[in-house]
Formats: sequence, structure tokens, C-alpha cells
Amino acid sequence: MIDEIKKYIAEAEDFQAKTLEEVEQFRIKVLGSKGLLKDYFAKFKSVPNELKKEFGQTINAWKNIAENKVAELKESLESQETNKNEWGDLTRPAAPIALGSRHPISLVKNQIVDVFSRIGFNVSEGPEIEDDWHNFTALNLPEYHPARDMQDTFFVQTNPDVLLRTHTSSVQVRYMEENKPPIRTISPGRVFRNEAISARSHCIFHQVEGLYIDKEVSFADMKQTLLYFTKEMFGKSKIRLRPSYFPFTEPSAEIDIYWGLKTETDYKITKGTGWLEIGGCGMVDPNVLTNCNINPKEYSGFAFGMGIERIAMLLHQIGDIRMFYENDMRFLEQFKSSF
Ligand code: PHE
Repeated sequence: MIDEIKKYIAEAEDFQAKTLEEVEQFRIKVLGSKGLLKDYFAKFKSVPNELKKEFGQTINAWKNIAENKVAELKESLESQETNKNEWGDLTRPAAPIALGSRHPISLVKNQIVDVFSRIGFNVSEGPEIEDDWHNFTALNLPEYHPARDMQDTFFVQTNPDVLLRTHTSSVQVRYMEENKPPIRTISPGRVFRNEAISARSHCIFHQVEGLYIDKEVSFADMKQTLLYFTKEMFGKSKIRLRPSYFPFTEPSAEIDIYWGLKTETDYKITKGTGWLEIGGCGMVDPNVLTNCNINPKEYSGFAFGMGIERIAMLLHQIGDIRMFYENDMRFLEQFKSSF
């Protein structure tokens, strides 16, 4: 019997395996609960006393050798396995990188910038945290002017001189302070108003404002510029300027475009009139020019402003302004484009 065990010991010592499966089979055969070792341990009782010692030592040696072998093979095969995962197949083509998409607000902003750049407008930018002068006072809105209520303002801390800009007209003030006419610039950017959030309005939104200052700029120039814009942007060729009021322009107007009444959506968004308001405009008030060190006797100009969300909602048939800020991938992925 001892000789039999010695044969098994030799077998265990020589055992090699290519897979973890083979190791497991070997373990079950030798060390398992119904394995060979168990059988031989059971035979211990019937071994003559004088052989018991040798038998015990041999069988224990076998057990150790088998256990070590299993552990050793398992470890080396498992490490091979993880190495395989680490390196993979180096000749395999790489997994494609998922393409992102631009945010619809950026897309529409870029489109607007593109349309105006074709007629010589550059892009100007300014800070989102503004002082009272650039957001209000320079724009003919002195302290306690009732028109300040038109734009509910977020103030930074308790200092009434530091606020989140309520429109990008503040950028135009900065631009006029730093540049001499002729000026042709548009200022896209994020603006803030303390308004209730609903499907149609948000406390954070985006504007594009335009400014044109030169000698003998007229109201007709403004109308032509806006007409060009609506044609390029919306493919619509009828606009209407409705008298309005802004402290920084005189005269002032609301810009309406004729959207048409072909579909049910047209009825809905134009409230059955076919006309749609897209922004405000007017001839820059002489006081504003003076505040920005431009001589109103020498120069005149026009300004206009519109909301980017509003335009994006029109162009892409988006029913709720809040979708722009939710970062829902199902929404954003629909705007894959190269613009
Ligand atoms: N700044 C105005 C607003 O935010 C828009 C505007 C700009 C109107 C320029 C007229 C001229 O409401």
C-alpha cells in the first residue's frame, strides 16, 4: 500500500495542467471529499501496527504535495489569465470613441455669430458679474429709475454695486469705452434675472445683443440689418418693428417676424396672429453715447438684443426652456452637428 501511495506522490509531483479546469479535476480526484486520500486515510485502521508510522508519514507527505501542487498551479494559471485580460489582442482595432455633441444653445449662438460676421460684425465678450455702471447707469438707467424694475436683478452679497448682469448691453458699454467708432459688434452671453422658472422663462438664459455705431447710421439701416438676419436665420422675409420703450434707445421697437400660419404649431407659437416677437431694438440714446465718451453730435447708431433660447426653441421645436439646463443625454444627443 505504501508503494501505491509513493506512485501517487510521484504522479502529484509530475502533474501539470493547462487550464484551471484540469487543476480542479485533479483536486477533486485526490483531495476531494470522495477523493483518493480519503480512501487511504480510511485504510489506516487496517495497517499493521509496525507500519502505521511509515504509512502515516507517507500519506501526510502525499497530502502536502498534492495541496501545494494545486495551489501553485492555480496561482500561475490565474495570473496568466489576468495578464491575458490586461494585454488583450494588440492587433485588434480600437473601440470607437463615442462622439459628443454641441449644446443646442452653442449651436444657435454660433449660427447667429456666423450670420452677423458675414456683414462685418465682430464678437465681444464681458464679465457675468457686473457693476452698476455697466449694467444700468451708463445705459441711461440712473439709480431709482423705474425701468430698473423691468429686469429683476440678482445682487452679489449685499453690495448693490455688484450684480449678475441682466443683459449683455453691459458688454456694449465696455466695448464703446474701449473702442472708437465705427463699431460693429455682437455680444453673445449668459444673463441672469430673478424670475420664476417655467416652461417659457428661466432665471438664467442667453442673449445676443448687437451694436452698430458710425456716422449717419439710420433707423433704415437697422431695419435692413434685422431683415437680413431673419432671412438668413429663419428663411422668413417679413419683419415688423413695433414701437416700444427701452431706456438706452430712442426710438425703441420690438422686433416681430412674420412666422406664418401654416401648421397647428404656427398657430400655437404665434397665438393665432402669425407674428412672433424675437427681441428689442432701437437707436442708441445720445445719453448712452455721451456716457461712453462718444460724441452724439458726430455719431449715431443702433442696438438690438434677443434671447438665444427663444430662437433655439423656434428653430428646433423645443417646447420647454428647462430642457436646455437639464443635461439629459436623450435631449442633447439629438443635436449632433458639425457647426
Ligand atoms: N437689453 C434689452 C433687454 O435685455 C434688449 C435690447 C437691446 C433692446 C438693445 C434694445 C436695444 O431686454
